[in-house]
Amino acid sequence: MKTLFGRLADGTEVDRWSLENGGTRLKVLSYGGIVQSLEVPDRDGRYANVCLGFDRVEDYVASSPYFGALIGRYGNRIAEGRFTLDGKSYQLSVNDGVNSLHGGTQGFDKRVWDVEPFTKGSDVGLHLYCTSVDGEMGYPGTLEVKVTYTLTHHGDWRIDYEATTDQATVVNLTNHVYWNLGGEGTGTIEDHELHIAASRYTPTDSGLIPTGEQAKVAGTPFDFREGKRIGRDIRAGHEQQVFAKGYDHNWVLDKGVTAEPEHVATLRDPSSGRTLRISTVEPGLQFYSGNFLDGSLTGTGGHTYRQGDALCLETQHFPDSPNHPSFPSTVLRPGQTHRTTTIHSFGV
Ligand code: BGC
Repeated sequence: MKTLFGRLADGTEVDRWSLENGGTRLKVLSYGGIVQSLEVPDRDGRYANVCLGFDRVEDYVASSPYFGALIGRYGNRIAEGRFTLDGKSYQLSVNDGVNSLHGGTQGFDKRVWDVEPFTKGSDVGLHLYCTSVDGEMGYPGTLEVKVTYTLTHHGDWRIDYEATTDQATVVNLTNHVYWNLGGEGTGTIEDHELHIAASRYTPTDSGLIPTGEQAKVAGTPFDFREGKRIGRDIRAGHEQQVFAKGYDHNWVLDKGVTAEPEHVATLRDPSSGRTLRISTVEPGLQFYSGNFLDGSLTGTGGHTYRQGDALCLETQHFPDSPNHPSFPSTVLRPGQTHRTTTIHSFGV
């Protein structure tokens, strides 16, 4: 179940854990909590790995655009890496032009997590632990994080995140799998059909920082309420798509923050028949259409990854929330436990 995947430059061992349950096969690295491979059957029972990734830990370290990784402390961007909390200003690590992206230069995607396997009834899984010390990447408070990956007897991949802090801070945890339900390396996701239960999205400036507006999707390329082929409107020429080179936006889920995970999005690949249903307690979903994949990376199956060869569906609080009081709060205080859950269900 556990094998040595590789070593970091300083000699630290990186393990790979293999799990199988309910027809789904999952491979997870201790480095970044990375989902290195997730295999599910197509309509004829043929398995394929539906996640982009690499074969060697060196490639993850050198040049991964967050393939399959856990993201923290803060998913997506914080403008100029700056925010104010309880009257104090903080300067975060900046790694995306002037902005801070996915936790900064050494985010949770680059940490080696402590991993503990478990079995619970007919479910199997991994607990992943990491501590982020006060001031790391500029964030206040020591954050204790526990992430649980469960592979259920139905073959669902469930993620439960928990975090506590010893000082007021902000937190927004997610996972950055790049999906291609036809199989990684098989080409574009433009023929995948996507449904998102959201009447609004958060438009951005040219640096992909939300303007603060929650705009209606009706009558725009951002309307996925009825479900549509991703390629249908991806070249519609909307200013927002020009900024992002496609879709790279936060959808404001109609259900809002919920105590229990609710179904918010469905992805379907007509050629293989594979489907992915996402349920979450989170109020937002970042749909990123793999715009910055440019053919410079070669993945697990030996194929180069080009623009639009995969997409991400990141459940989250809204980008740059610490600078937008009108967005749902991402503040975590001592004594509170941050808890969030997302479930990925596969079918044909
Ligand atoms: C962001 C993209 C970014 C990508 C990193 C996504 O979550 O929305 O803007 O380029 O992560 O690969």
